[in-house]
Amino acid sequence: MCGIVGYIGNRQAAPIILDGLAKLEYRGYDSAGVAVFDGSKIHTEKAAGRLAVLEHLTRGGETMPGFSGIGHTRWATHGAPSDLNAHPHTNKQGTIAVVHNGIIENYIPLKKKLEKKGYEFVSETDTEILAKLLDYYYKGNPLEAVTKVLHRVEGSYALGIMFADFPGELYAARKDSPLIVGRNDDGCFIASDVPAILKYTRTVYYMDNQEVACLKADDLQFYSVDEEELSKESVTIDWDADAAEKAGYEHFMLKEMYEQPKTITDTISPRIHENDIVIEELNMSDEELREIRKIHIVACGSAYHAGVTAKYVIEGLARIPVEVDVASEFRYRNPILEQGAMVIVISQSGETADTLAALRESKARGFKVLGIVNVVGSSIAREADSVMYTWAGPEIAVATTKAYSAQLVAMYMLAMKMAKVRGLVDEKTFGSLLSDLRCLPDQVEMLLAQKEKIQHFANRYVGAKDIFFIGRGVDHAISLEGSLKLKEISYVHSEAYAAGELKHGTISLIEDGTLVVAVSTQEDLFAKTISNIVEVKARGAFVMAVTNEGNKAIEKAADYVVYLPETCNWFTNSLAIIPLQLFAYYVALARGCDVDKPRNLAKSVTVE
Ligand code: AGP
Repeated sequence: MCGIVGYIGNRQAAPIILDGLAKLEYRGYDSAGVAVFDGSKIHTEKAAGRLAVLEHLTRGGETMPGFSGIGHTRWATHGAPSDLNAHPHTNKQGTIAVVHNGIIENYIPLKKKLEKKGYEFVSETDTEILAKLLDYYYKGNPLEAVTKVLHRVEGSYALGIMFADFPGELYAARKDSPLIVGRNDDGCFIASDVPAILKYTRTVYYMDNQEVACLKADDLQFYSVDEEELSKESVTIDWDADAAEKAGYEHFMLKEMYEQPKTITDTISPRIHENDIVIEELNMSDEELREIRKIHIVACGSAYHAGVTAKYVIEGLARIPVEVDVASEFRYRNPILEQGAMVIVISQSGETADTLAALRESKARGFKVLGIVNVVGSSIAREADSVMYTWAGPEIAVATTKAYSAQLVAMYMLAMKMAKVRGLVDEKTFGSLLSDLRCLPDQVEMLLAQKEKIQHFANRYVGAKDIFFIGRGVDHAISLEGSLKLKEISYVHSEAYAAGELKHGTISLIEDGTLVVAVSTQEDLFAKTISNIVEVKARGAFVMAVTNEGNKAIEKAADYVVYLPETCNWFTNSLAIIPLQLFAYYVALARGCDVDKPRNLAKSVTVE
């Protein structure tokens, strides 16, 4: 995924663009570039490395005067990070410049056709064919050139485009990759995400697929891909600017971990009415909920892990069979979707290509899809039949924390609702569940307060080579997430295992001092998990246990114990994840890793 920013108006464009790109670096940060019309020509500067390299090169934009421009921060897909592969890409004469987020899937045949017509290519990117194709179709009418290109290309794109012949205009287009347009008294903006322009305007337009925008300093017009004029409603963003900044924390990830009590509250409160759960956005009657025969949950990464938790909770409370798939598998395994099935896709960004494709596959087969999404107006949110938003606000750190926690409680509520309409929980039980749900924010707050204790323990594992996470039932689900958190930000290898499965092979990897994190919150499984702890300790492991207050028996088996406050069995993942997030964060910190922007990763994977 990449970040795009553009501006046209009565202020210097380059500083605005660079400022916006800095807010989008979480979308990709291996190279960056800016193109500005300097009064006579398009002036382009681009560089491999972080945005700071480009800022230094252009002295914060001072060396690039001009009132209109486009910029890009890249997460490489086609072509390694390099000056040449960085965007913007231009035609040979430098009179057309384009920045792109997405993948042009038919770029190879298009490139061959253009080469036959004499076009030469200097980069390894798919994006460069857009610049040459625009050149090929441009006969003096920018809109015509843009729409002709859009009819030819296949794949996903968010585009910012400049034509030197029309310095008073900027063009934008979108298909499957997010793009918004902003406007204020000083001009118009394009951006991949709201934080990039929130400092300048709260009035934004979410572009729909295959729409084109023509931005001028004092005008804005939308078109269809067939050049028909469109009118679009603007949206007023009510985030405050700080919400998209670090608010004094060292890292976005730490800030977002500490926002979890609020995001849990923000996600559950609007859906609790007089001791009942009301999920209006489901657009399903109680009768329709009762008719669900099977649920397919499809997602990637941490969202997938939230789905694994949801399987246990929905099957446990609502007794509906649940199948959980990673999206990249679901879409290619010709899944069996039968009448009465419901598909739920979970996605923080709402732009994950595999998850979006799974949504489309399900809809193509005639099945309704519910999206559990965090980013308002994202592709998944717009294409799902219904959307249950996780009100976590902008999540900037690549490693998800608050959005993941919001996904968990959203799924708990869904399970409770389904169980209630099926008459599987009585009023008393439902009331008790609701009470436990309402306690989660304060309990998470209490666990976050233990950060120094966890940090002290984590510092002992700065040199760890392998760490194992084990658990049974929902504790296995949270082990998956704890392991991923550690891997993705500290680069320490770890594996999550169903505690009862470790002895079937992988236990051979346990050596003296190997850390095993045992999550044990299910009272009926305490003894079983303690047996597994004894097994690994017999082979030299050091065991950190994450368990319920009152489970004193585990103290005799484990070396280090983190206690969780009491909650119902179904909700323990929301608590167990806190020490696991803190552990991962502090190991990464001790190892000097870039916690918010881990190597090789991006916040949203909008490519296969
Ligand atoms: C989470 O920490 C990871 N960065 C990653 O696994 C992420 O959960 C996954 O890519 C799915 O993203 P999404 O929720 O935006 O679809």
